[in-house]
Amino acid sequence: MQMLKDAILEKGRAINQDVLLVDSFLNHQVDVGLMKAVGEAFAEHFSGKRFTRVVTIESSGIAPAAFTALSLNLPLVIMKKQTSRILTGDILQTTVRSFTKGTSYELTVKRDFLEPGDRVLLIDDFLASGEAAFGVLHLAQQAGATVDGIGIVIEKAFQSGHDRLTAEGLDVYSLARIKSMSERHIEFLD
Ligand code: G4P
Repeated sequence: MQMLKDAILEKGRAINQDVLLVDSFLNHQVDVGLMKAVGEAFAEHFSGKRFTRVVTIESSGIAPAAFTALSLNLPLVIMKKQTSRILTGDILQTTVRSFTKGTSYELTVKRDFLEPGDRVLLIDDFLASGEAAFGVLHLAQQAGATVDGIGIVIEKAFQSGHDRLTAEGLDVYSLARIKSMSERHIEFLD
C-alpha cells in the first residue's frame, strides 16, 4: 500500500535494525485518514471471505481494526492484556510473550465476544515473531471459533512471524512488508 509505505519512509524512524518508531502516525499520534485507507484496503482484500467479527489486541491495533470493522460492517472485539476487577465472568485467557518488549501478558476475552462458529479477521499494527497472533489463535480454538484471515499494517518480514503463521495454513496479508532497516534506510519487500 503506497500511502502507508510513504508514511513509513517520511515519518517512521528505525532506531536500530529491529525496531521502527511509528508514533507520529500509528501508535501514539494517529493519522486517521491513513487508518481509514488502511481499513478500506483490508476490507477490499478480504471481501471474498465471510467473517463474523474483527478482532484486535489493545492498544495499537485498535485504530486500523476499527476502520476495518467499519468498512466490513462487523463488530470489533478488542482483546485485553490484563484482567481487571470489572472483567469478570466467563473469560478465555492465554499467556503471550512479547520478544520485542521482553514482557508477557495474559491475553483475555469474554466468552460472549468470541463464540463457537465465529470466523475472525485479526487485525494488528505489527507482525514480528507472531506471538500475539498465535495467542489469538489459541483463544479462538478454546472458543470453538476460527481465525480465517490476518491483516497486518507493518510486517517485519525479516522476523519469523509471517512464515510461522502461513506454515499453520493461515491467510496473512500485510500492507507494508519491511525487508530490512537501519537508522539510515528502510527497504520493503515487493
Ligand atoms: P509478535 O506478537 O509478532 O511476536 O511481536 P512482539 O511480541 O515481538 O511485539 C509485539 C509488541 O511490540 C506489540 O506491541 C507491537 O506493536 C510492538 N512492536 C513490535 N515491533 C515493533 C516495532 O518495530 N516498532 C514498534 N513501535 N512497535 C513494535 P504491544 O505489546 O501489543 O503493545 P501496544 O503498542 O499495542 O500497546
